[in-house]
Amino acid sequence: MSVTSSIKSRASVATVPDASFTMVAALDVGTAYSGYAYAYRKEMDEGMDNVIVNNPWSSADKSTTTYKTPTQLLLNEKREFEAFGYEAQKRYAELHQQGRHERCFYFKKFRSKIASGQAGIPGEALRLALESEVASVYCQNMKGVGKLPIHSPGCTYVVADIGGGITDIVLHQKRTDGRLKEMNKGGGCLVGSSHVENSFLQFLVRIFGAPAVREFLDECQIEVIDILKQFEMAKKGMISDQAKPLSIGIPVGLERICRKKNHGEDLSVIVQRSMYRDKAKLADNTLHIDVTICREFFNSACLEIAKCIRNVLLDHNAKECTMLILVGGMASSTIVQDILKQELESKTKIQRIIVPPEPELAVLKVK
Ligand SMILES: Nc1ncnc2c1ncn2[C@@H]1O[C@H](COP(=O)(O)OP(=O)(O)OP(=O)(O)O)[C@@H](O)[C@H]1O
Ligand SMILES: [Mg+2]
Repeated sequence: MSVTSSIKSRASVATVPDASFTMVAALDVGTAYSGYAYAYRKEMDEGMDNVIVNNPWSSADKSTTTYKTPTQLLLNEKREFEAFGYEAQKRYAELHQQGRHERCFYFKKFRSKIASGQAGIPGEALRLALESEVASVYCQNMKGVGKLPIHSPGCTYVVADIGGGITDIVLHQKRTDGRLKEMNKGGGCLVGSSHVENSFLQFLVRIFGAPAVREFLDECQIEVIDILKQFEMAKKGMISDQAKPLSIGIPVGLERICRKKNHGEDLSVIVQRSMYRDKAKLADNTLHIDVTICREFFNSACLEIAKCIRNVLLDHNAKECTMLILVGGMASSTIVQDILKQELESKTKIQRIIVPPEPELAVLKVK
């Protein structure tokens, strides 16, 4: 989050003048992923585009690499900090293997209260900013994209930050003096990519039954992390015109529980008997899911997000608004972009949707 933002923000404002800082650091504590970035004041003043983000973090098995690390926290039995992010994931798996996991506290995908004092950040040096607001400033300052209508004085546009747990929406106008004006209170909803994950879990429930899936979720935490990691990777790799099914390896624990609950019946038979018999197939312990079903995982979340954006567009200040900027991790998805385009271009005045490069970093890389 930049301290140079010219926006008239709802966020809190630091009391120390910007010029007295030699460095500006940004912390993005998200529901799904968290990260940091920093830039040197001198370089910013010289117009250098040099916001430094952390080297990508990797999961223990090196299968996933991301610029933000999962919002996962491990506390020891004394409730003291042990690890955060991929490291917490790895340490929890190790403790599980040693049978010591029940004594520690492992939190995933949580929303945090910012306690700057406890973190050693002096209050006068801290600014809290709304993600969609800083993302709007980021889009104004983006290099290498040429002139966009959002750069023209008088242009009113919507910014939606679709993250892991929530969607934040603001309506901004570019003023003649270059500043941004907040045109209404914006909006938002508690919908993000965790809804897509929930739809996948519901799909498993419809195939294998609620008691089996519930037992699996309760009893096999490490395998739950693994199947959700597989889904996360598969989901991120999905493109709009994909024809190939999504393949998810079924963990041994889920297979064991399903067999137990179905008199030893083979999992492939259970899949064949389910409502998804034509859309899902089990082979070599891997569930192959037809893309039409995978698109449905995105559908209800995207329809809800589109409804929220439409509500913001109902404001009389949004009468001339034809542009939408999408940021946040979910904005990378071409499936999400397509659904929102379809929903908004037919039902509102929105004619153009802009997704900046690396939309999940828009909040961190703003200057
Ligand atoms: N290509 C993609 N397709 C679908 N989802 C994606 C893609 N890339 C990232 N995501 C999802 O975006 C989410 C992370 O986005 P982001 O980093 O903006 O969330 P966050 O800041 O943690 O959440 P919030 O702002 O709601 O607290 C992850 O849950 C991830 O699954
Ligand atoms: Mg976020």
